[in-house]
Amino acid sequence: SQRKEIDDTLATFALSPTQLQEVKAKMRVELERGLKKDTHPTASVKMLPTYVYRTPDGTERGKYLALDLGGTNFRVLVVKIRTGMRNSVRMYNKIYAIPLEIMQGTGEELFDHIVQCISDFLDYMGMKNTRLPLGFTFSFPCNQTGIDKGDLVSWTKGFKATDCEGYDVVDMLREAIKRRNEFDLDIVAIVNDTVGTMMTCAYEDPKCQIGLIAGTGSNVCYMEEMKNIELVEGDEGQMCVNTEWGGFGENDNIEDIRTRYDREVDGGSLNPGKQRFEKMTSGMYLGEIVRQILIDLTKRGLLFRGRITERLKTKGIFETNDRLALLQVRSILQSLGLDSTCDDSIIVKEVCGAVSRRAAQLCGAGMAAVVDKIRENRGLDHLEITVGVDGTLYKLHPHFSTILKDTVRELAPNCKVDFILSEDGSGKGAALITAVALLLAHLRI
Ligand code: BG6
Ligand code: GLC
Repeated sequence: SQRKEIDDTLATFALSPTQLQEVKAKMRVELERGLKKDTHPTASVKMLPTYVYRTPDGTERGKYLALDLGGTNFRVLVVKIRTGMRNSVRMYNKIYAIPLEIMQGTGEELFDHIVQCISDFLDYMGMKNTRLPLGFTFSFPCNQTGIDKGDLVSWTKGFKATDCEGYDVVDMLREAIKRRNEFDLDIVAIVNDTVGTMMTCAYEDPKCQIGLIAGTGSNVCYMEEMKNIELVEGDEGQMCVNTEWGGFGENDNIEDIRTRYDREVDGGSLNPGKQRFEKMTSGMYLGEIVRQILIDLTKRGLLFRGRITERLKTKGIFETNDRLALLQVRSILQSLGLDSTCDDSIIVKEVCGAVSRRAAQLCGAGMAAVVDKIRENRGLDHLEITVGVDGTLYKLHPHFSTILKDTVRELAPNCKVDFILSEDGSGKGAALITAVALLLAHLRI
């Protein structure tokens, strides 16, 4: 029957407890592979060192400029941290658009645009002549060799500007500032958004030692023991590692749970074969998975009276800006311009539920692997830890966060994991990192 056909299709998105355990176990293997020198070069989860050695301790202070590039919004901010007291951070920010032709143009154009936005912001704040230290939240994988050095490994999400991969992001920004020849800045730190988010949240809660983004992309960072990070000299203390878990699956180890719809979304993306886990778990792609399923069900005569509209054939109709429509069946159907029956909207709702539920469970399985690793690192039977979270999928989806938390509880029963929302974005964390980095630099001089 038709009902059975629909159920069978959606069943491919339902993960059993055993399958989720397997995802957790495989993630754990990849976390270890990324940390080890001999397996790192071919690891799907890159485990990148961040040169952030600790979370904030409340002594940070000063006035900083911050950039936040790679999520839904590009922001330029001033962050003022006052002495001593916590909760004494003031921020001023402005959001700028990054047009598609800039995201996917040349690297020079992209960085010139960024500097143009900084210039506008400094004018707006009346700060053109103050040479502020800058922390740059750059939400892409970077091979860092210091807090202010990071070569872009590869673009992810919706970016693909030319001549950037393999080059130092800080150099590219410095050169663009020089080209403009209008103001000067000290670029002190380059920061992944997961790390900025962890630091923002750790400023309020010292138990926060993990950062999670469930937004346009999907990624996690956490405090790892130095002795386990083979890429960095030294065995004492800890360093934050940017896992880049979005790449999980690139070595074909989760093909058993990928569906034909996942493969279609991957094939039509800017980076086929890459970021397979991200493409099953983040806001930029969930709408595309839904669209692929709707097309298939319609072709099979199970939906919309078998009529495929031009709109439904359009890539990205529920992408990024509109991705929240993913959850609101009415707006989805409206945006499709479909005359739909009541049954149709029930089916669309089921499709959305199946896709987002799997996304939250997969994130939860990954998180369970991370917290259990931290627990074992510390030789504990029981771990209490806090995750700082940001991202529109987590913040705005009606069920994502609940399913994520339930999954972590089931798969990591020896850990009590709290989740706190980052209210101020990762810019604040980038400023805190900049404060510490400057202090250390001055001590060294
Ligand atoms: C923001 C952070 O609040 O959340 C960014 O400041 C981050 O650094 C973003 O990239 C993630 O969410 P989204 O949904 O905008 O990708
Ligand atoms: C992508 C990026 C990663 C970032 C994440 C969330 O996965 O590669 O660096 O943290 O998106 O924005």
